[in-house]
Amino acid sequence: MIAMFDSGLGGLSIWKAVTRSLPAWPVTYLADQAYCPYGPRSQREIATRTLQICRYLADQGATLIVIACNTATSAGIDHVRKALPIPVVGVEPAIKPAAAASRSGKISVLATQAMLASQRFDSLVHRHAATVEVIPRPGLGWVEQVEAGDLNSAHTRKLVGDVIQPLLQQDVDHIVLGCTHYPFLAPLIREMVGDQVVLDDPADAIARRVASLIDSRPILPMTDRHYRFLTTSPDPAPMAAVLPALIGMSYPVQSTGLD
Ligand code: DGL
Repeated sequence: MIAMFDSGLGGLSIWKAVTRSLPAWPVTYLADQAYCPYGPRSQREIATRTLQICRYLADQGATLIVIACNTATSAGIDHVRKALPIPVVGVEPAIKPAAAASRSGKISVLATQAMLASQRFDSLVHRHAATVEVIPRPGLGWVEQVEAGDLNSAHTRKLVGDVIQPLLQQDVDHIVLGCTHYPFLAPLIREMVGDQVVLDDPADAIARRVASLIDSRPILPMTDRHYRFLTTSPDPAPMAAVLPALIGMSYPVQSTGLD
């Protein structure tokens, strides 16, 4: 099976693309809600937690792991790749394609505080966006709204508007969604920016990368365990309640018992 994880439910934006492109593969999705959000945590803490979760998923029988979280990828993917013998795919903000396609020469990267403070972010900007102006902004409070399945309330609109409205004054023509939670707020962002600004979401590129690393043939008959959803929260009910708002379907959710 393909195993995926995120600090919470944001990685479901990647889950949707992967399950669409590889429908025959069973996928186990783990939300580390006991530790969510990762954004305010230190690189070291996130790296340790990322390795712990990936070991757990490998023990569950993962063929391949997708770290469906920019923050965990930047802090921990190198350690995970050294520690585990299976392919590990990470997610990075789509800075390269955004910078290459920008006509105004100004792009914004929206990501968590930890991601924006990471060496990996500096290195991505240095390598791929040296010729454009990059405006980094954290989506403060956005992750919590997506975790609650609250994608369009007055409070969510205020939190999103506080970040997006100032960007509109700055002639930005690409907004990189550098946190996997943010694509769930893309309809709201689109409403605010109109159709002249491109929102860069890496989900389809990740799905292509996963497909290139594994056999796309059906390997197992579909069962009711084809898609499994796990949370590190002791109470799985809130995640089960929010799944329909994020992926349009209901599934049972189990607690992992992982501390
Ligand atoms: N979804 C995550 C990311 O892509 C992190 C959100 C958080 O826990 O702060 O970076």
